[in-house]
Amino acid sequence: MSRQPTPADRFSFGLWTVGWLGADPFGLPTRTALDPWEYAAKLAEIGAWGITLHDNDLFPFDADEATAAAAERRLKAATDASGLVIEMVTTNTFTHPVFKDGGLTSNDRGVRRFGLRKVLRAVDLAARLGATTFVMWGGREGSEYDGSKDVYAALERYREGLDTVAGYIKSQGYDLRIALEPKPNEPRGDIFLPTVGHALALIAELDHGDIVGLNPETGHEQMANVNYTHALGQALWSGKLFHLDLNGQRGLKYDQDLVFGHGDLVSAFFTVDLLENGFPGYPDAPRYTGPRHFDYKPSRTEGMTGVWASARACMSTYLLLAEKAAAFRADPNVQEAMAYAGVFELAEPTLAAGETAADLLATDDGFDPVKAAERDFGFVRLQQLATEHLIGSPTPGAAAGRPTG
Ligand code: GCO
Ligand code: MN
Ligand code: MN
Repeated sequence: MSRQPTPADRFSFGLWTVGWLGADPFGLPTRTALDPWEYAAKLAEIGAWGITLHDNDLFPFDADEATAAAAERRLKAATDASGLVIEMVTTNTFTHPVFKDGGLTSNDRGVRRFGLRKVLRAVDLAARLGATTFVMWGGREGSEYDGSKDVYAALERYREGLDTVAGYIKSQGYDLRIALEPKPNEPRGDIFLPTVGHALALIAELDHGDIVGLNPETGHEQMANVNYTHALGQALWSGKLFHLDLNGQRGLKYDQDLVFGHGDLVSAFFTVDLLENGFPGYPDAPRYTGPRHFDYKPSRTEGMTGVWASARACMSTYLLLAEKAAAFRADPNVQEAMAYAGVFELAEPTLAAGETAADLLATDDGFDPVKAAERDFGFVRLQQLATEHLIGSPTPGAAAGRPTG
């Protein structure tokens, strides 16, 4: 077990995570609901710093204004009392049947106008609750059948919707940034903005893209069979890593939303290493400074004891991996193996200062490709050092030894 998490670790949880009742397409709920403020109080008790929520985690879709306002007051009182931060708010534009073809990109214009209004109201809610991130996960923005959706028009409407929301945030002077959450599929057959790369490309086309970034989720990138840590790296490189959804996924299947680390543990190690220690060759590169946010589902086999155990597990695994990653970076064998592997060399610009393409073409630096091809990179040894740190070898690297050339 790790040390106890504290608010300084900035762990946060969606109310819908510990609040998931276990209903799936094949089965009824296996747990009964608590009130939002009860989940919040318990999360504070086990060491969380913050919570996040959808509008409809707090009040039902059809709640009247008085009911919604009462729930908001009640939650705010509970979070103030326990010192919890409500760091992110988002909109549910996926549960109600009206959103069956999406919110911002439904073929039905009336639905789009309704969806956009619901999002704008959730932006106001976010500002009132003091959140600084507004996540937009377009789970229903997509299609099952290619003939049913004009993709050009859908992207135009997505852009229109995002710019309207971002423009509204600016016009109200809210201290809020939008974070888009990519996902390849589920609930739609194909969702627009399936990966971090797709979302970055859309953000580049926005008028108000300066306040729009990303909320990458571990399992979502892995469902697209791409590397989550690379996705975080590219989002950081673009200055767009605004928020995170950490969880676990085992391979190409439905969105499992497992406890963080219960999917691909080696990948989770490198995710934490990047978040905690930054890029090895670029100490001055942008670092992630936001909340360590978990978006997972406590398995439906568990009762409430298991729900809280699973929330603790997310934090505990993160803290243990952070310790391992710190030891990994501090290990002289690792530093030497990284140097041998050329990890730091990659940070050196390929051209010399002021050198042009013409200069490069005119220069013979005596490079011998046959000789260069003989280079041994030692990537396997470096990976084994990481593995030995991860599994807690008392003497990481002892068996592999130093390269003999
Ligand atoms: C999912 C998503 C959601 C979103 C949430 C916030 O696959 O269901 O990850 O959990 O993160 O709706 O927008
Ligand atoms: Mn998910
Ligand atoms: Mn998510």
